[in-house]
Amino acid sequence: MKTQVAIIGAGPAGLMLGHGLRQAGIDAIIIERTSQARVRQRIRAGVLERTTTDLLTRLGLDHRLKLEGLPHHGLTLVNDGRIIDVPVTRHTGRHVTVYGQTEITRDLIEAAPARGLDIIWEATDVALHDIEGDTPAVSFTVAGERRRIETCIIAGCDGFHGVSRQAIPRAVRREYERAYPFGWLGVLADVPPCHPEVVYASHERGFALASMRSQTRSRYYLQVGLEEKLEDWRDDRFWTELKTRLGPDIAAKVITGPSIEKSIAPLRSFVSEPMRHGNLFLAGDAAHIVPPTGAKGLNLASSDVTYLTEALISWIDHGQSEGIDGYSDRALARIWKTERFSWYLTKLMHRFPGESAFERRMQNAELDYIAQSDAAQAMIAENYVGLPL
Ligand code: APR
Ligand code: PHB
Repeated sequence: MKTQVAIIGAGPAGLMLGHGLRQAGIDAIIIERTSQARVRQRIRAGVLERTTTDLLTRLGLDHRLKLEGLPHHGLTLVNDGRIIDVPVTRHTGRHVTVYGQTEITRDLIEAAPARGLDIIWEATDVALHDIEGDTPAVSFTVAGERRRIETCIIAGCDGFHGVSRQAIPRAVRREYERAYPFGWLGVLADVPPCHPEVVYASHERGFALASMRSQTRSRYYLQVGLEEKLEDWRDDRFWTELKTRLGPDIAAKVITGPSIEKSIAPLRSFVSEPMRHGNLFLAGDAAHIVPPTGAKGLNLASSDVTYLTEALISWIDHGQSEGIDGYSDRALARIWKTERFSWYLTKLMHRFPGESAFERRMQNAELDYIAQSDAAQAMIAENYVGLPL
């Protein structure tokens, strides 16, 4: 088999890249380790920047997004029950859109056949070959048979635990990491949201977040210790803790109901440089992770994909190499600023084990300052809505 671009991973990054290349008439095949059902079931964040919604519009895949996405013009911070509204649109003239990643994945997968985008599901033992030479290839096993695809370019879109990043020699790779000493316990429930905006709450007992998927489906999170077990978090315990942390005004509007999904995820900041080595290009979680505070993971994947699609088209169709040569630096410049914002919001809103009273006072002072300062709110709004491409 032969193709022009072999894409490893059918998460949002791989799917968006595949669609962008096919739209330009470039051959691309996606090779994915798990089943379609598993990819479609994964529940992750749901706040989209313009970078992401514009990309879906350019791909002609925004039909359901336009019908079902909820425009949000602000966000709400809460500090020990005191509410701070950050009017994002007033500060930036732009808004974000609430639309679940599960829905985006579904839209991209369902539109793939019509665009001639092949996805090979359940491909195990994926291996990259000759990324530094003239005959790059990807091999894998499907239904017990070993197969090999020869290609010009390999796009590593296989997430944090994928194989692509590991194919870049250790001596070339620079990795930067911060693991946080806590995780997020997430609950999805078919109950109306408690507040019109997404709520980020700082509380003595830890952080809480109130978000939504629609007018009838809510997504909530609690900061929990890394040693916490899901089975110790029955629904009633979750709801009680959530209400305490959100504070009395918002808690009064929380409608509880049975959880339809519950999971614990660790928080991490991570960047691997460079994002290109030879004929291999990384995009999305394969190259970087942000903690979910601020909902930047998917949005960063879509800015990488925007840069990479443009670069690959001008290389493959016009033989111009400036785009592919500049891809890593260009993508990383935006990634680091987004890493900073996600880290900043995480540090500002969470309780850290062993933090001193001084550090807690600093968080309080900063949240008081944000409550009173247009300039501080503008900084948050500008980052939340997404930095320019
Ligand atoms: N071979 C093939 N596919 C692989 C391999 C492998 N060795 N390892 C992982 N994959 C697949 C995963 O099964 C997954 O479907 O690559 C895909 C990577 O998808 P994501 O982890 O979603 O990463 P990305 O597409 O970069 O998404 C970026 O969306 O899913 C969120 O948390 C993610 O917010 C981030 C954003
Ligand atoms: C979500 O809706 O799942 C969500 C929203 C905002 C975040 C993280 C997750 O910062």
